Amino acid sequence: MLHEKVPDTPVEVIVDLLTKAKGIAATCAAVPEELKTHLKKALDIASGLDDYLEKMTTKESEHLAELYEKTVSHDWDQVFKEGKTKFQLPKECITGHVEGQALKMLIHMSHARRVLEIGMFTGYGALSMAEGLPDDGCLVACELEPYLKEFAQPIFDKSPHGKKITVKTGPAMDTLKELVAAGDQFDMVFIDADKSNYINYYNFIMDNNLLTLQGVICVDNSLFKAKVYLKDTTDSNGLALREFNQFIANDPRVEQVIVPLRDGISLIRRVSVASTHLLSQANITDDEVFRGVQGRSILNRMRLDGKVAYVTGGGQGIGRGFAHALGEAGAKVAVVDMDRTKAQAVVKELFLKGVHAIPIKADISKSDDVQRMVDTIVSKWGAIHIACNNAGINKNSASEDTSLEEWDQTFNVNLRGTFMCCQAAGRVMLKQGYGKIINTASMASLIENHSERHYLQMEKRGTVLNLLKSGWYTKITPRQH
Ligand SMILES: C[S@@+](CC[C@H](N)C(=O)[O-])C[C@H]1O[C@@H](n2cnc3c(N)ncnc32)[C@H](O)[C@@H]1O
Repeated sequence: MLHEKVPDTPVEVIVDLLTKAKGIAATCAAVPEELKTHLKKALDIASGLDDYLEKMTTKESEHLAELYEKTVSHDWDQVFKEGKTKFQLPKECITGHVEGQALKMLIHMSHARRVLEIGMFTGYGALSMAEGLPDDGCLVACELEPYLKEFAQPIFDKSPHGKKITVKTGPAMDTLKELVAAGDQFDMVFIDADKSNYINYYNFIMDNNLLTLQGVICVDNSLFKAKVYLKDTTDSNGLALREFNQFIANDPRVEQVIVPLRDGISLIRRVSVASTHLLSQANITDDEVFRGVQGRSILNRMRLDGKVAYVTGGGQGIGRGFAHALGEAGAKVAVVDMDRTKAQAVVKELFLKGVHAIPIKADISKSDDVQRMVDTIVSKWGAIHIACNNAGINKNSASEDTSLEEWDQTFNVNLRGTFMCCQAAGRVMLKQGYGKIINTASMASLIENHSERHYLQMEKRGTVLNLLKSGWYTKITPRQH
């Protein structure tokens, strides 16, 4: 990536000035050695920063690298001369590697699913952000110049993330109006177009609720080569950004941080809906319904952070699914299975997702195993909040051929085993004063979902009924076969 650079950020301007100062000092005998040493040190610090950030930042994808090369090696002056773009576009416009990865990181951290970019250029920032979005995420990029959409599209098409990007050409404000009319909202907005309009884009987004409740607005170039704070600035873009930054700093609807990365990125988020300012503005009932219980939104309150769960039969199938779901929701999970290797494999999967999990080998038809399972969990994590009694067997033999031995075996696991788990976990829960028990049954107890034999259907129905009678039943979820 060795391309000739014009000073484009506060650090690059400092490097430029220090280089000139060092050159002058070198030719001037009157400059004390100590001053030269300080100049050299200051230059080393300033000139090493971007290189270091570049090296330490995770490598960009091959498609981003290709897009970067294609952009910086393109003759933009020629494109302009040929009338293919309305404006002369400097290649330095591009959001580079470090900033691209920073944007991608923000997408991950904010769990954004829908992103709006205002000012796409050749799509480097758009593709970086798209790489951070989930598979069903989407990014709408507003770009004035149709030429740039055509320039970027072939690389978007090559990337597995390109399909998340929709480019809308024309003046961004027109696109914003269309998006509002369509009722669209975005979790993150990246503003990086004409500086004089930043304030209009921002106000339009805020006034029309284009930003979701928890959404974030990122604004590029908000330090604008330091012109936003240098007293002698006359540059119209520098002055526009100075005014913009001040406007945001004074806007009680939001909080702002300007990160001095490259040419500055402002991070802006709405203040809590319960802030005193917002409450005093309207006649609002300031209660738990408005604020959310303990100030937490509904989805947040449904999380299982700090909870301890176990799943019997967690080594495969729907039990494995339960274990992942509980873990993703924040619970610690004991994966219980007769097959230790399978339980361990699921624990390994959960560990990779950052979930605290332990494997427990237990046969739930044996009371000692059930008690050991409960004791292990309580001694490890001090509680059991969620008992997922999911283990079950189904020999699926023809009713007329089912031996009593098989009948007993099935009932020992599906009914007696489930009861023992409920009882053992229930005792812990009663002591705690809290607990949820989820017993998995089969939809075959209610409907004939596949060609099972009558006898086994009866057996399953019996399981459900007995659980209901026993008073332990909390919820019955269909078991997938
Ligand atoms: C700094 S570049 C954007 C860089 C881009 N975010 C990236 O990741 O490389 C600014 C872009 O804004 C576009 N632009 C300028 N005025 C615009 C407007 N009124 N509406 C939409 N796009 C505009 C320009 O054509 C240019 O491509």
